[in-house]
Amino acid sequence: MKIEKGKLGNVFYGGHLIGGEEVVEGPLFESRNMADRDDLVGVFPEGSPELVRRAAEAARKAYTAWSRTPAPIRGQVLFSLAKILEREKETLSRLMVREVGKTLKEARGDVQEAIDTAVFFASEGRRLYGQTVPSELKNKDLSTYRRPLGVVGMITAGNFPIAVPSWKLIPAVLTGNTVVWKPSDDSPVLSYVFVKLFEEAGLPPGVINVVFGGGAGSTGEWVVNGIDEGLFDKFAFTGSTKVGRIIGEKAGRALIKATLELGGKNPLVVMRDADLENAVTGAWWSAFATGGQRCTSAGNIIVDAPIYDAFKERFLAKVESTVIGDPVAYEDVHYGPFFNDRLFQRWLEHYDWGEADGAKLLLGKGRITQDNPYPNFKGDPEKGLFGHPTVWEAERGMKQTREEIFGPTINLIKVDGIDEAIETANDHPYGLSSAIYTNHRLWAYRFKNEIRAGMVNINNTTVGAEAHMPFGGTRASGNGARESGIWVIEEYTEWQAVNDEFSGKLQLAQMDTEYTAPKTPEDWAGLLGI
Ligand code: UN1
Repeated sequence: MKIEKGKLGNVFYGGHLIGGEEVVEGPLFESRNMADRDDLVGVFPEGSPELVRRAAEAARKAYTAWSRTPAPIRGQVLFSLAKILEREKETLSRLMVREVGKTLKEARGDVQEAIDTAVFFASEGRRLYGQTVPSELKNKDLSTYRRPLGVVGMITAGNFPIAVPSWKLIPAVLTGNTVVWKPSDDSPVLSYVFVKLFEEAGLPPGVINVVFGGGAGSTGEWVVNGIDEGLFDKFAFTGSTKVGRIIGEKAGRALIKATLELGGKNPLVVMRDADLENAVTGAWWSAFATGGQRCTSAGNIIVDAPIYDAFKERFLAKVESTVIGDPVAYEDVHYGPFFNDRLFQRWLEHYDWGEADGAKLLLGKGRITQDNPYPNFKGDPEKGLFGHPTVWEAERGMKQTREEIFGPTINLIKVDGIDEAIETANDHPYGLSSAIYTNHRLWAYRFKNEIRAGMVNINNTTVGAEAHMPFGGTRASGNGARESGIWVIEEYTEWQAVNDEFSGKLQLAQMDTEYTAPKTPEDWAGLLGI
């Protein structure tokens, strides 16, 4: 670790974290402030297949002692972590604004989600319940125990650089596993500091190891290839459906469990009886919070015909009031820059899809620049990649209504009644989050039952899942795994069934069992003359 004075703050030179050592090896890459590309935030080395192996070896070495550490003691480390994260909440949040481009309010939410997760799992160390089960034989006890899996490979995205890794790292270590983590190359400094805070909390060296770098053709790919090499006993991934399928395939062959949190195209339905003001605000926040760069961001807003025009008018006015700009310099912006170039390029592409399919562009086009200005912009748009808030009038089946686009864009789709609303809401390959605005009990009930999504919101946005509820999706959004709360424990443990025989002799289940034989039945029908 080395620190230099930078343009807007210190430049942080870090290394891989392997077995408690800092390893500066490999070509360097930079992490820059996305709202001001002249501001260098961090410099880190890229990994290599060899470094990934070294990290996995360090994790395997640490596993023996860590998995045997009593769970309440492991939980105590997380209790300390929660307190440390509270202490560092403001520092981490401000770093997140600079390194990733989130607004301060959202960055604080991101860190808070990790604190909530640490608090939840600190006390889970005193539960991790198994069961006692009666035996069919005398003088014999049956019980179940949760056992850790071993070394976990992890890859996370940069849009929730503290919260989403915390959903994985915290339950993984609480249950006694050790980790090789490849964080997003959009947020190496945050990831480095986060792991250092685990160390300060008392996590032993080698329990969490970090190898930095990019995805395809870099550390990400080598970590994924580590599944084939037998380096991991479990894999956890948040990212694209395309990469998720590759990981799922490899994990399947290696017979290890994979947690896959993938894409989404989250529908938000507004029915004719909805509280319009609340629905407009909720739809706007679902679409444009984080600049649309959440996996829970709304993709389609499906509006019931009788209120379509009224909703559209109010929604467009709300979107036009969005304040965009440099979140480091201006705390009151609603969203800042794109978190990386790839997301920006894909978002740009969607204008061609819209044109090709004949969707109607209602608001916004392309990058905000001095020549393509946005009236509510704060800062210098040329210093980063900022997108105009974009609203389309689209129809079911158009490419932009089915494909995930991480960026500030939303489709309005007109439907007539609850049947068409639910059909349209399901008309895409994903199934992560969903929302309906209605006060009609039956419509809300039907939506909850008929929507194909892991998460359902009634009169609530598609975003903002709480840290102790099961997070995850169905269809192309994942493989059925759930993160957070008690549900994620299934992902990091497996059940051990214990037979404890006290009789001191050979007693065979199914064979020596003293089942009571039923008596010869009475002929009840004959006796009663029926
Ligand atoms: C993500 O975008 O990967 O539910 C996670 C939410 C946040 C987490 C989003 N609590 O919007």
